[in-house]
Amino acid sequence: MKHLLKLSDLSKEEITDILDLADRLKYENKKGIAHPRLAGQTLGMIFQKSSTRTRVSFEVGMYQLGGQALFLSSRDLQIGRGEPVEDTARVLSRYLNGIMIRTFAQKEVEDLAEYGSIPIINGLTDYCHPCQILADLQTIREMKGDLSGLKFCYIGDGNNMANSYIVGCLTMGMEVSIACPNDYRPDPFVLDFAKAYGDKFHISDNILEMAAGADVLATDVWASMGQEGEAEKRKIAFKGFQINDKVLAAANEKVMLQHCLPAHKGEEITREAFEAHAKEIFEEAENRLHAQKAVMVRLMER
Ligand code: CP
Ligand code: NVA
Repeated sequence: MKHLLKLSDLSKEEITDILDLADRLKYENKKGIAHPRLAGQTLGMIFQKSSTRTRVSFEVGMYQLGGQALFLSSRDLQIGRGEPVEDTARVLSRYLNGIMIRTFAQKEVEDLAEYGSIPIINGLTDYCHPCQILADLQTIREMKGDLSGLKFCYIGDGNNMANSYIVGCLTMGMEVSIACPNDYRPDPFVLDFAKAYGDKFHISDNILEMAAGADVLATDVWASMGQEGEAEKRKIAFKGFQINDKVLAAANEKVMLQHCLPAHKGEEITREAFEAHAKEIFEEAENRLHAQKAVMVRLMER
């Protein structure tokens, strides 16, 4: 593994290896055992969109690994004034040991990897959010044991989270159901990827049918970053695509919930459902730290 650009680049074995290392780093972190595996290294973090979890978990993670992180806002970088990605990649490769980037177009992340000579980590694009799904898989494994055979259901927008859940969960041997409005389906490349999994993948606008018997339920905001102008239109299109009592009742009685956060309570999830499952949701947020540290170690350790 040279980069983390999207989950479809990773095999089941590579994902398992990252999750195993994430568990070990979490254990060492809790026990106060130092693990300076990236001592003296620097990660650049380019942000073209807002962030709480991704920024803080990468920055703290890099510090705990003995290195340092540089926050690079696109408002300040020349990239924000039109300097080409291919030049930015070649320059930053000479100062840094790795780059995490959060941006709009997946192509920008792929271009950084093509033109740079250091590991690139995707910290969210419009297409996918691989770091988040690795943290979710770590959380699901902690709470449910073996991932293989679990029934996973996502309710809501066919967005970056849906795309990454489909690829990550299917790769790990889970059954995946997606409930979304017909006009807001996941990316065609991802739907094509899912075809190979036959009846392990289901997609429909029938929420209760998709949620039936689910071991894990997940959702995400109806309007993602960059779609603020569509928020009102989307509120109408997504009405009912919500995790609530009815959906929970349709799922397995021991169902767990995942939400990448930030949440819009009252839209994609009720306040009651969120609070009843807050333990799993905040463990998921914590696991961003551990899963990303594992990714950085695998990509950057000398
Ligand atoms: N889930 C997530 O990526 O959160 P941030 O947008 O706060 O980084
Ligand atoms: N789909 C959301 C995820 C935020 C972590 C967004 O892209 O805004």
